[in-house]
Amino acid sequence: MNVAIIGTGYVGTVTGTCFAELGHNVVCVDVDAAKVDQINAGIPPIHEPGLPALLKTHVGKRLRATDDYNDAILNSEVTFICVGTPSGDDGRIDLSIVRSASTSIGKALAERSADASHTYHVVVVKSTVVPGTTDEVVAPLIRANGGDAGVVGIAMNPEFLREGKAVHDFMNPDKIVIGGDARAVDTVARLYEKIPCEITRTDTRTAEMIKYANNSFLATKISFANEIGNICKKLGIDVYEVMSAIGKDFRISEQFLNAGAGFGGSCFPKDVKALIGRAGELGYDPLLLNAVIMINEEQPMRMIELLTNRIRDVRNRRIAVLGLSFKNDTDDIRESRSIPVIRELLNRGATVAAYDPLAAENMREVFPDILYCDSAKSALEDADACLIMTEWAEFGSLDQEFDAMREIVVIDGRRMVSLDRGVYEGICW
Ligand code: UGA
Repeated sequence: MNVAIIGTGYVGTVTGTCFAELGHNVVCVDVDAAKVDQINAGIPPIHEPGLPALLKTHVGKRLRATDDYNDAILNSEVTFICVGTPSGDDGRIDLSIVRSASTSIGKALAERSADASHTYHVVVVKSTVVPGTTDEVVAPLIRANGGDAGVVGIAMNPEFLREGKAVHDFMNPDKIVIGGDARAVDTVARLYEKIPCEITRTDTRTAEMIKYANNSFLATKISFANEIGNICKKLGIDVYEVMSAIGKDFRISEQFLNAGAGFGGSCFPKDVKALIGRAGELGYDPLLLNAVIMINEEQPMRMIELLTNRIRDVRNRRIAVLGLSFKNDTDDIRESRSIPVIRELLNRGATVAAYDPLAAENMREVFPDILYCDSAKSALEDADACLIMTEWAEFGSLDQEFDAMREIVVIDGRRMVSLDRGVYEGICW
């Protein structure tokens, strides 16, 4: 099938490239000419394992990029909206980019030639949007701008792609959810027919809610593990032993019960807050979801608390921060738990020596003046203490490197290290 993808961020690039891999002809659209050129040159605009090879295989053959909506949409049967849905200042979802994409799609569809004007075209929302958005915002804008209701179908098809594993997750999903009327859903389902996975067919609002419920539940598991972990810490119990045991209950599962410095990334914090915001608009105060966020905001401060229990005044002390990205295997620092930690260390007058295998350049934009080191070893040199903030595998093999510290004080926010000398403390164990 011929597919247009609007937005070449993380979701759009992965979705477009994977659809090409499944045999479809894909045109990616972005208003950013630099990104368009990058994709056409076979270079992914994001860091994602497996993507460079796939893009190279398909670019110029089954995949190309353009900044021209008409060129992409008028030559496609299905258009995916994969643009960003950032949080507004109050945590509620900011739909301005979704709105402008919908308007542009409507205008492009209005340009269809007389022979093509009765050809069925489906516009699919893949961006994470609060329940009701596809029907109440996207569809009306498409129609108001010329996308004819009779021949333009509207669907919602949320993504469940983990950064760092997105290509794998796209090709091996545990669920595919498509919301919309039967004709729109059938059309979108055809795009996935080579993937052996059951398709959940539903309406658009339910599809939208499934995405929020999915992320909110996973975020809840993490905050739950962190809360139990905080209690365990006070009791001298190892929360990892506790979670490993309860995870054996098939109703619970061991996944996403790693206690630590909390969750970051472009999805969990934003999506939970957006659902809280939408619930608030409807007059409902979501107690559990609020607590999930509150626990998550407290966890980085616990790292500081444990540190200052050991070194009361961190002024002019060198603190090594290992890990800047929001999780391992990505250069993405959005909502990284290391950001509030570094901010607090700087407020208290500490000297921060940071190391991350991939994310230093991105973090430099947030904290231009901290010391960026090119290895964990050099960050640790002469440090008065070390905070481990990200679950990078390489931190698991650190050992002798700690001997270069002025004093060995290691506070582990990700259960990466075990040390038999100096001071070693886990955040929740
Ligand atoms: C998350 C979901 O896992 C995807 O299914 C979803 O599609 C995606 O959001 C999205 O909405 O687009 P991602 O943000 O890439 O994916 O990251 P995760 O691997 O889920 O990790 C999120 C955060 O939780 C990280 O900061 C990680 O360190 C933390 N985490 C994860 C824990 O603290 N403990 C755990 O047990 C697991």
